[in-house]
Amino acid sequence: MKKRLLSLVILMATAPLALHADEGMWIPMLLQRNEAAMQRAGMHISASDIYDINHASLKDAVVLFAGGCTGEFVSKEGLLLTNHHCGYNEIVKHSTVEHDYLTHGFWAMSREQELPCPGLTVVRLVRMEDVTRQVLHGLDDNLDEAQRDKLIEHRIDSLCDHAVEGTHYRAAIKPFYYGNQYFMYINEVFNDVRLVGAPPSNIGKFGGDTDNWMWPRHTGDFSVFRVYVSPDGLPAEYSKDNVPYQPLKHLTISLKGVDEGDFTFVFGYPGTTRRYVTHDQVDLSANLENPIRIALRDIRLKHYNNAMNQSPAQRLRYASTVAGIANGWKKWQGETQGIARLRTVEIKKYQESQFQMWAEELKAAGGHDYTRVLPQLEEAYARLRPIDLEWTYFNEGLLASDFMYRAYLLWNLATRHSTTDDDAQATAQKLLARNETFFKDFDQHSVVDHAIFVETLTYLWRAGQMPYLDIRSEADLAKYLDKIYSQSILTHRDKMDRLLKGYTPRQARKVLGDPAVELMVQAYDNSYTEAKRNTFNTAQADIQRLMRLYLRGMMEQYPDSNFFPDANLTLRVAYGHVKGFSPRDGVYYTPYSTLTGIMEKENPDIYDYVVEPKLRSLFAAHNYGPYGSPDGSLRVGFIATNHTTGGNSGSPVLNADGQLVGLNFDRCWEGTMSDLIFDPRYCRNICLDIRYCLFLIDQFAGAKHLVEEMDIVR
Ligand code: ARG
Ligand code: GLU
Repeated sequence: MKKRLLSLVILMATAPLALHADEGMWIPMLLQRNEAAMQRAGMHISASDIYDINHASLKDAVVLFAGGCTGEFVSKEGLLLTNHHCGYNEIVKHSTVEHDYLTHGFWAMSREQELPCPGLTVVRLVRMEDVTRQVLHGLDDNLDEAQRDKLIEHRIDSLCDHAVEGTHYRAAIKPFYYGNQYFMYINEVFNDVRLVGAPPSNIGKFGGDTDNWMWPRHTGDFSVFRVYVSPDGLPAEYSKDNVPYQPLKHLTISLKGVDEGDFTFVFGYPGTTRRYVTHDQVDLSANLENPIRIALRDIRLKHYNNAMNQSPAQRLRYASTVAGIANGWKKWQGETQGIARLRTVEIKKYQESQFQMWAEELKAAGGHDYTRVLPQLEEAYARLRPIDLEWTYFNEGLLASDFMYRAYLLWNLATRHSTTDDDAQATAQKLLARNETFFKDFDQHSVVDHAIFVETLTYLWRAGQMPYLDIRSEADLAKYLDKIYSQSILTHRDKMDRLLKGYTPRQARKVLGDPAVELMVQAYDNSYTEAKRNTFNTAQADIQRLMRLYLRGMMEQYPDSNFFPDANLTLRVAYGHVKGFSPRDGVYYTPYSTLTGIMEKENPDIYDYVVEPKLRSLFAAHNYGPYGSPDGSLRVGFIATNHTTGGNSGSPVLNADGQLVGLNFDRCWEGTMSDLIFDPRYCRNICLDIRYCLFLIDQFAGAKHLVEEMDIVR
């Protein structure tokens, strides 16, 4: 038994960089390298259909949405699809008590009704270019890291300036493979983006945080926008004279749907992965940081959820805070379990031993010396680890309550921003605004917030994270914390308002004497000493440099492997197949969900599972028109083996012919370790079936005019 386990680990590890078939987020410009594999996997189109700078290609239809999501054009008049949770902020901003678009949905029935969204941007990649030589020429490994960074920054600035001179484009250069390669991105930024439609929350967020990160899933997670440009066709700030943008390319939509085994690819903007890190980093993230963050978020979620179950007003009040806290909390749990299940630390250690052997041999043969890289990395992590631990407690725990977060802001006001009256005033305004929400229904909110304050700090105290407090028992600690909470100016509205309205730096001393601010300063001075900062920053810089060498070494070690660069919020292609999976013994997940599942989940007493009456009657009528499947069902979602991460939300999911079949919006919980290690047995992305999306726009919302704008094939 033991022997079998060991051989399994070795089997997985000996081909460490011969990536799993479906793993990888590939650079569109270099997709020729993947073309054969993609076509073998079932793709009918070519790499140049996806990315081409001489002809319109699919890349012209895919955009960065709101700086952190993906969107895609689906009509020649700039109509754009993304997720509901990506458009969420815009929907909220346009919602009022009289027009609650978040709850009831919104549909512009004419162009005039489309709603401007100041500050919202959409970015199209015009072209990209390998600029490694220009950025790195003449730099060698012995150069001091800070000096090297400065030189690179300088070169990047001038390359970018030069590249977009005389155009309306913007340029950016980003490092790949830890700075072994650099690519320049020439982008076009659109500022007039208008909200066109959104389903009600009980469709767009159906299942809420209960179903988040999970399969089977039934969320109608989409929203609709439109990009406008000036009458001469150029990006412009909002103006009523602007006209719909005519994209170089918009996606064709297929109603054929997908089934188990079908080829799909996801084209979008994945944010961050850490595929090549060593066992120390995996252990730090999965076994040190994640458990602390999860435990501290447990506390916050418990109190917020209690409150949310007490009244609709409290539900509304905490909904978006809780969505944010719960999203990371749930993902990290899946990640840590997945890391353990795949024995990731052991596998990494084994790979590192292989690398070390290879490096020794290379050195003996007179080649480049990589033998010090891994030992030095280990040593750098040893320096980083204790400080990282402390800072995790500070950020996730000390700042957890609204009370302590405001203490932090107040302390900022009194120290860093006290040089001019103007700065102080601006920070004071920010705090004033936060006071508004803090003191709203203060009787209720202070109960929740006080409980979070006391419980999180007790957690920190038990963990030995408050050595600066001379307190011996939990009872004493509770008394001490209660006193701070009640005596601080932060819980007295009148005093706070008076302080902030006429704030001048002369009041700093008074602020610093507040008991909550005093506690904040003690904690900060304990954890963020100059020595700790220096140690941390030096260790980080060492890790950055060593990872660059490690990756360069690995690429020499496995010259025949096609390495994908870690995600860095640049446009990527991930490909795979629609596929069910077995998350645990005795359970098998089919790869798609249907409207029937929504009705099975329906529960009028549970907020996340309330079904919109109109959707229920459409289900009862069983007439899905062109959007139904041959078996009479209406498909709602599907899962596939496409390698995705945060930022891929809203990304188009395309079939073998490059037609739109779905919108990516999540990953399966059992596979969230895929930021660090991918395994096609468990890693799945979750997609909204485009037919459910169109069914909702057309039959549910009655916005047929939008569907008519699109190119739809059967
Ligand atoms: N898990 C998805 C993502 O990481 C969706 C998050 C928003 N939805 C939610 N229920 N909190 O963005
Ligand atoms: N919901 C995530 C997003 O906002 C995508 C899920 C993931 O793969 O992390 O991008």
